[in-house]
Amino acid sequence: MKDGRHITLAIESSCDETAAAVMADGRVMLSNIISSQIDIHKAFGGVVPEIASRHHLTNVNHVVDMALEEADVTPEEIDLIGVTKGPGLVGALLIGIATAKALSLAWGKPLIGVHHIQGHISAAYVENPDLEPPFMALVVSGGHTEIVRVEDYDSYKVLGSTRDDAAGEAFDKVARVIGLGYPGGPLIDKLAKEGDPDAVAFKRVFLEKGSLDFSFSGIKTAVLNYMNTEKQAGRPVNTADVAAGFQQAVLAVIVTKAVGAAADAGEDKIIMAGGVAANSRLREMMEASCAEKGIKLYVPSPILCTDNAAMIGCAAYNMAMKGHMDGLDMDAYARLDIEEA
Ligand code: KG4
Ligand code: ZN
Repeated sequence: MKDGRHITLAIESSCDETAAAVMADGRVMLSNIISSQIDIHKAFGGVVPEIASRHHLTNVNHVVDMALEEADVTPEEIDLIGVTKGPGLVGALLIGIATAKALSLAWGKPLIGVHHIQGHISAAYVENPDLEPPFMALVVSGGHTEIVRVEDYDSYKVLGSTRDDAAGEAFDKVARVIGLGYPGGPLIDKLAKEGDPDAVAFKRVFLEKGSLDFSFSGIKTAVLNYMNTEKQAGRPVNTADVAAGFQQAVLAVIVTKAVGAAADAGEDKIIMAGGVAANSRLREMMEASCAEKGIKLYVPSPILCTDNAAMIGCAAYNMAMKGHMDGLDMDAYARLDIEEA
């Protein structure tokens, strides 16, 4: 405890960000340190798992020290240690988990493993002190695209998910196809602003009537085919139009399904989570659609949408308050079901 407040130290290392944060009473961010490896992986056009693990290993102690220092918190004042246990790259996860276990043992503090997507969803609590479940969550990240009904702090129901590529994956792959760098999401977001979303139309894939699932692998192929056809015909391609058309086709489906799911369930709150939730066009479209349906929309700041440890600390605190705890035998999970976690 510090100044009468519960203190959580959290660590996140599931992909290419080494992050640590200190949270007071679960929702107040005392520090949020993120060491990104994006520049290292850029050269390879995507995250290289082995390289990610090595960099987590060199960075993690320093990142944790910085988080404690910035929060002005001593090890004695910590009440709980939270860490991402999955889903993610196992080698990367293991670095965060081993660090959290070592600190838990050395400092005699309780330990809790957090589901990464539960973390992303919890980012919404950090900036909205009054937000409480139940609500609908749209999770759009590099590895996940899901519509989740958050029933309680420790109870989740997945209503729909992607059958192939995740939304962020589609952004990253299409960015590569049209010659942009990595990660593609922010680059497409920026380039699309200069393009006409109706100039090159791509098919919007809604799947069977009533389904809340997604499929984005077809649109990636459609963009590739379009680029090849234009090239063979010797026509110049306006990549801004392609980016805008692709983005519009993907986002129209996401917004229709997420807001439709909330409206059908009589839910009056939707939160957005995950890296793609940082997309400026998605934020505009969700705002417009939610306003039309009388649904209140919660969108975390971009820095809390992409991977960070503040969201993990918030989720860890909520789980601990519900009586959940882990031991030093906790594992790392490449795949992990949020309904069971
Ligand atoms: O949540 P996140 O940081 O990591 C995962 O858990 O996957 O999400 C990373 C993904 C990447 O695919 C990246 O391209 C995408 O989020 N992303 C964006 C934007 N910013 C990040 N996609 C679209 N527009 C953005 N502005
Ligand atoms: Zn993530």
